[in-house]
Amino acid sequence: MDAQTDTRSETRTVNLILLGPPGAGKGTQARILMEERGLTQLSTGDMLRAAVAAGTDAGKAAKAVMEAGGLVSDEIVVAIVDDKLAEEKSGPGVIFDGFPRTAAQAESLDALLAKHGMQLDAVVSMEVDDDAMVGRVSGRYTCGGCGEGYHDAAKVPRTEGVCDKCGGSDFKRRADDNAETVRARLEAYHADTAPLIAHYAATGKLKTVDAMKDIDDVTAAIRAAI
Ligand code: AP5
Repeated sequence: MDAQTDTRSETRTVNLILLGPPGAGKGTQARILMEERGLTQLSTGDMLRAAVAAGTDAGKAAKAVMEAGGLVSDEIVVAIVDDKLAEEKSGPGVIFDGFPRTAAQAESLDALLAKHGMQLDAVVSMEVDDDAMVGRVSGRYTCGGCGEGYHDAAKVPRTEGVCDKCGGSDFKRRADDNAETVRARLEAYHADTAPLIAHYAATGKLKTVDAMKDIDDVTAAIRAAI
């Protein structure tokens, strides 16, 4: 392979799905890949929370469902993904974080990718133990200024109370990050989302990583997989 081909392969467009239950580390790894490779994180959870905060019709319909740990309707979620892909189709690539979550959403994603002239390169299944996920999610907090994610035990700011990334000191916890709601979200994951692992295995695009390892080790495994 000559140098020119080599360079092109390093900068090529990559569209991938991070698939895993609540707390698997999808958002954490998406942000790392975003910084490393300039990819765009497309988090349906973040987009829905923004819609709730803005009081849009979609946000009003989603609020109670999210607070209970259920899944927002496919129709609402697919519409927000469609809008986002229209903006991102010419970019360096998209990391789907938390989408698709149902068989119907997976089918819609195929149609949306075709509509926007995009392709799916890889699906990374992040494997974790349910019991550990309750602790991960309950210990999570983020910087209100830049969105950087932290955890009470696994990832604390270098200087207590000060965000490593932006220097902010306003940290937030999500309303749905309590043990009861996490259990409901895990149930929704196993009922509706876990079957997508077999679906994507059949396409030959599925890669599996052990997401119980340290954050850096998981990043290395994802890098190797994609
Ligand atoms: P969403 O926001 O997508 O939440 P989720 O899938 O439940 O995932 P989380 O954000 O909780 O976990 P994560 O995997 O990103 O973990 P993180 O990196 O933060 O969805 C919220 C709600 O919106 C849903 O319940 C639903 O109602 C609705 N929704 C969203 N998308 C939808 C869709 N497509 N269809 C229908 N409804 C939808 O890590 C967690 C913590 O662990 C952090 O503190 C982190 O620092 C730490 N951590 C990360 N990796 C490690 C590691 N390797 N070791 C130790 N700690 C780690």
